[in-house]
Amino acid sequence: MMTKERSTAAMLAILFHLHLPHLVNGWCSQTELSFKLRKPTMCTPLPVSYSDKSIQLQASSTSLTATLTKMIHWRGEKSHGNSLNFRQLEFTSAFESSVLDPDSDIVSASVKFSPSLSSNFEAAKEMTNYEVHAYENALQYVSIRNYEADNNLTDIITSNDVLIRSVKRCSLIRSLFEIVADGDTFEDLAHNTIMSGHLDDMMQGGKNSESTWAVRLRQYGSSSKPEKQAQYGKKMRSPMSQEIAAIDEMKDLFIKFTGAVDLKDADINLYLFEGLGGEKYNGRKVIARLMTRGANTSSIAPKTRICVTNTPLCPLAAFTMCNVARIRPGLRILDPYAGSCAILLAAAMIEPSVKSVGIEIAHNGQVNRDDIMKDFESRNLALPAAIIRGDSSQDKVRREAMESVENKPFDLIITDPPYGIREKTGFCVDPPVVSVVKCISEDRRNGNRLLKKGGRLVAFVPNQHGDDIQLDMPSDADLQKAGLRFCQMLEQPLNDSLSRWLVEYLCIE
Ligand SMILES: C[S@@+](CC[C@H](N)C(=O)[O-])C[C@H]1O[C@@H](n2cnc3c(N)ncnc32)[C@H](O)[C@@H]1O
Repeated sequence: MMTKERSTAAMLAILFHLHLPHLVNGWCSQTELSFKLRKPTMCTPLPVSYSDKSIQLQASSTSLTATLTKMIHWRGEKSHGNSLNFRQLEFTSAFESSVLDPDSDIVSASVKFSPSLSSNFEAAKEMTNYEVHAYENALQYVSIRNYEADNNLTDIITSNDVLIRSVKRCSLIRSLFEIVADGDTFEDLAHNTIMSGHLDDMMQGGKNSESTWAVRLRQYGSSSKPEKQAQYGKKMRSPMSQEIAAIDEMKDLFIKFTGAVDLKDADINLYLFEGLGGEKYNGRKVIARLMTRGANTSSIAPKTRICVTNTPLCPLAAFTMCNVARIRPGLRILDPYAGSCAILLAAAMIEPSVKSVGIEIAHNGQVNRDDIMKDFESRNLALPAAIIRGDSSQDKVRREAMESVENKPFDLIITDPPYGIREKTGFCVDPPVVSVVKCISEDRRNGNRLLKKGGRLVAFVPNQHGDDIQLDMPSDADLQKAGLRFCQMLEQPLNDSLSRWLVEYLCIE
């Protein structure tokens, strides 16, 4: 029996005679969200003043125009822990880091999300409110606009390059699409696509005329089979017969592509969507180009690593923390409770030029430093500057950490401190994040800054349900002494009784 991929490829080949090769200001759970990113306080000065930069539209290397509608397919649709708020926070933070890139043209921006799916189908009546919300927002339209001081949103300004760079570092994004055209029928859609000129690059004389390509159908909501209707965004393979029928109806378009079809590893992946919601595309058929995918976090999954510990941080959380910390090239990063160094691995994957240091109290029998180094080496990631054995609450251990990065203060402290019965070490009198904040103030008082002004502290704070989270957080007086300002906190439920809160502080003094 032919597999689905082979038979669709064969059908395409027969039809088209082709070859067969190979600044966040808050969040909530409304359906439409707007995040304002202003020129944030920066860790290092930029070479030019932002207010002097002009806004330009750039055509990216993978797409014709930056103004087409973009759509994000999120990861973690069903997982409450990776809530929509978490996913959006990771993306907006990653985007803000890209905006801070001196090569970016963006002055300040507003990022707006709105649901791409509609729950207007029979099976949705059986779904809970949470499931309906999760379903509708598994795919979201995202628009990024210039944010003017007078709150006047002008044209979409972001270049595709900035957007692609931001998405590539996000663990909670599966894919980013760009909608090329829409139509009432597939025939219409083919016609409208040709007229738009947005896929001309794949035709004779176009810059992608030699590129391999593939096309897939994705049906949602009432367009899909009843048993698939309530399914969340992920496993949305549509019936092969309907994929073939849709492609056949659109042959006037596909016959113009000059590259070979490759359903396994195509240079250009096109998707036909049916059942999208939202004002613009509601009920219409849509063709979209895959612009890029999110980060491949599975390559640092604990089970793939040589260093095995009891409490490795999951890669999705490690990436999210690094993004919320706004990692950028060349920054110095400290993890004072490093364990197997999941955070430093994620940091090196996001930005190879960071200089990282881990402090870990456990002896090599529990957390083997050589094995950690091998985990970096085997993935071709830049090695940490040091992984120090010691108690990070001790002044001399922190001095040693700074010595390994030219005796300069860290730009970022990112950490997943001990929590739960297993992690109670008895070494800390204070809750771990309070201890880190007190270390920052002690070093500041002694004229040995641990965290640079403009730097950030991003950490998880564990919380048993029913316990007062404030007791595990630094007080206002602690923060003032450390020169820190509270920025934000967001809960991530882990199980029925335990949550952790992602907290962010900015060093302002
Ligand atoms: C939740 S684990 C960190 C896990 C880590 N993110 C990973 O991916 O493996 C907390 C770690 O902090 C270490 N630790 C506890 N108290 C410490 C201290 N005072 N100084 C340094 N490390 C400490 C523990 O041994 C443990 O490995």
